[in-house]
Amino acid sequence: MTVDVRLTEAQMAAFDAIPNDQVSGIKPAFEKLSVERYLDPAIFEQEKEAIFLNLPMPLAASAQLPGPDTFLRQDIAGKSVLLTRDKGGVARAFVNTCRHRGVTLCPSHELQTGKLVVCPYHAWGYAMDGALTGVPRAEIFSALNKDEYGLSALPCAEGGGMIWVGLRPEGRYDFSVETGQLARELRGIHLDQARHFKTKAFTVKANWKLLMDTTLDSYHVTRLHRNTVASMFSDSPVIVEPVGLHLRNASARGNFAREDLSDKVAMLRKVAVVTYQLFPAATVILSPHYTSVEMFRPISHNETRVEFVMLTQHPQSAEVDERLQRSFDFMCRVFGEEDFWAAELGQEGISSGDLKELTLGGMENQMRTFHGMVDQQINKYYQKA
Ligand code: FES
Ligand SMILES: [Fe+2]
Repeated sequence: MTVDVRLTEAQMAAFDAIPNDQVSGIKPAFEKLSVERYLDPAIFEQEKEAIFLNLPMPLAASAQLPGPDTFLRQDIAGKSVLLTRDKGGVARAFVNTCRHRGVTLCPSHELQTGKLVVCPYHAWGYAMDGALTGVPRAEIFSALNKDEYGLSALPCAEGGGMIWVGLRPEGRYDFSVETGQLARELRGIHLDQARHFKTKAFTVKANWKLLMDTTLDSYHVTRLHRNTVASMFSDSPVIVEPVGLHLRNASARGNFAREDLSDKVAMLRKVAVVTYQLFPAATVILSPHYTSVEMFRPISHNETRVEFVMLTQHPQSAEVDERLQRSFDFMCRVFGEEDFWAAELGQEGISSGDLKELTLGGMENQMRTFHGMVDQQINKYYQKA
């Protein structure tokens, strides 16, 4: 595969700033984080209004809708969304509810293929552009104008290999960062050219932010993951920079050597760890032969559906897919049995009410940045309201 996209200057500057060792660049810290933010259902309601319904949500990697006439159900924060790719290749989003009697239109979370989404109840059929095209025994409805019964469209934009959706049909969303600066950076790491390998869903009994914390905490990597991925990483600080509301993180792999850094992404994947935290609740992590996308979909204040999506830059072959399957099973263990397990232990531990605050040190600086952004969005929303 020939890829001539180069990393952006901002990306290269971040990788150049990766320290050579495990000590320099660490700024010791001692900060407190209230446990209420993970426990209080009222705070979760505020997050829903001010963040999940109010900002563009990263709902899928583009590769999850691999071609025209494909569709996929994605749920988040009490909303069910139908993502489609129409015959022209345009990604669209709709409320996943049948306009007849309101049942969930696409019940499956698996990728579907076809020109129509057919309601499981009375078989009304909708085209990929949301138009109602088929109504069995249409003569029994005395005044049904099909043109007025299309699916409710949601604001949607695709850029850099991700599909972003606004969850309020009438809402006004600014997608400029997601389709501009962020998309340029994601193209730099070739996310838009990726192939979908596999997806696995988990239900985790933890607040969505505890799960985000696992992706924002470089302190745990060589400790919690001591039996799995620890040896691949250096226990060194992470260079964190905002891209709009999103974060780009660059850190060293275990075999980091500055002279190996280059603007070629294949080389970069080998010596550095690049992650993007897509606000509010998704993370993109680059590995040498694949890219992991973790999407955290809150169900309630203490339960989250997680989708781990594995993408790859390698074309399909039996040999490649066999190797990827091993990596996929391995990463399911790393995430499921280690990170998600730690998040559940966190939820369980703080639910007792015995601890009022968590303590953060100098290798948890990304977490402090992230929680500050969450607070800022809530304050901004309710000040305006
Ligand atoms: S509820 Fe969908 S066709 Fe009746
Ligand atoms: Fe982890």
